Order: sequence, then structure tokens, then C-alpha cells
Amino acid sequence: MKGIGVDIIDLERLDVENLNFVKHILTEKEYLIFVNMKSQKRQREFLGGRFAGKEAYMKANHIGIGDISFHDIEILNDKSGAPYLHDSHAHISISHENKYAIAFVVVEK
Ligand SMILES: CC(C)(COP(=O)(O)OP(=O)(O)OC[C@H]1O[C@@H](n2cnc3c(N)ncnc32)[C@H](O)[C@@H]1OP(=O)(O)O)[C@@H](O)C(=O)NCCC(=O)NCCS
Repeated sequence: MKGIGVDIIDLERLDVENLNFVKHILTEKEYLIFVNMKSQKRQREFLGGRFAGKEAYMKANHIGIGDISFHDIEILNDKSGAPYLHDSHAHISISHENKYAIAFVVVEK
């Protein structure tokens, strides 16, 4: 499978205080990072970036919510801060600014 996907998220629409919602989007490892973040602003950026990244991953693979769970897709950061996916054939880039987070995913195989 080869493909490209992009998604943008309105950060103000994310209910970061609803931990059931947050747990629905994040894997256990991602959730542990989220709860240890210093500010709600940073939590919102992190959650928005993961949400956008997971939807972009689905688009790049030509699949949707019915085909895969948010928990099947994991986005962590390496030592330099660069995000990476659980899938070694997929590449991701995330950005956030004020109200929005955006993510691009490329699948190469
Ligand atoms: C990458 C960088 C330019 C992004 O800066 P920015 O414009 O303030 O941030 P943006 O909102 O556009 O992007 C933030 C996202 O960029 C991604 N990111 C962070 N560091 C990155 C890196 N080194 N490479 C690629 N992507 C990176 C992350 O996904 C981050 O979001 P997240 O932490 O919620 O996952 C900045 O973090 C930077 O200069 N980092 C230097 C890292 C580095 O060289 N480290 C070497 C030490 S080992």
C-alpha cells in the first residue's frame, strides 16, 4: 500500500478534560505522556496532533474508523522530538499553531 493522508483539527473543539474521550483517542503510552504534560495548552496540542495524525494515517491507507481503532495507531516521539508511527512503512509530520493541529502521513509500501 502506498498513499498520502492529511488531517487538520480545531483544537478548541477538543474536550481535554473528558478523560474517557482522551482515552478513546490515545494508546496507553500516549495517555501516560498526555497526563504528565505541564499545561492544558500542551495537552491540547498533543491530543490534536495525535488525533490528526491517526486520521491522516487512515487516509493514507485508504481505510476509515470502521476498519481500524484509534488504539491500533500509535504516535510517539524520538529523542529529537520527531514523531513516528507504530508502522515502519509510514512517515508522519505534525504541526500545531494557536487553534489548529495538522498532520501529514506518507505510506511507502
Ligand atoms: C522541529 C521544530 C522546528 C518544530 O518547532 P515548532 O514550529 O515550534 O513546532 P510545530 O508546532 O510546528 O511542531 C511541533 C511538532 O513537531 C514535531 N517535532 C518536534 N521535533 C521534531 C523534530 N526534531 N523533527 C521532526 N518533527 C519534530 C512534533 O510532532 C511536535 O509535536 P508533538 O510534540 O505534539 O508531537 C523544533 O521543535 C526544533 O527545532 N526542534 C529541534 C529538535 C532537534 O534538532 N533536536 C536535536 C536534539 S537531539
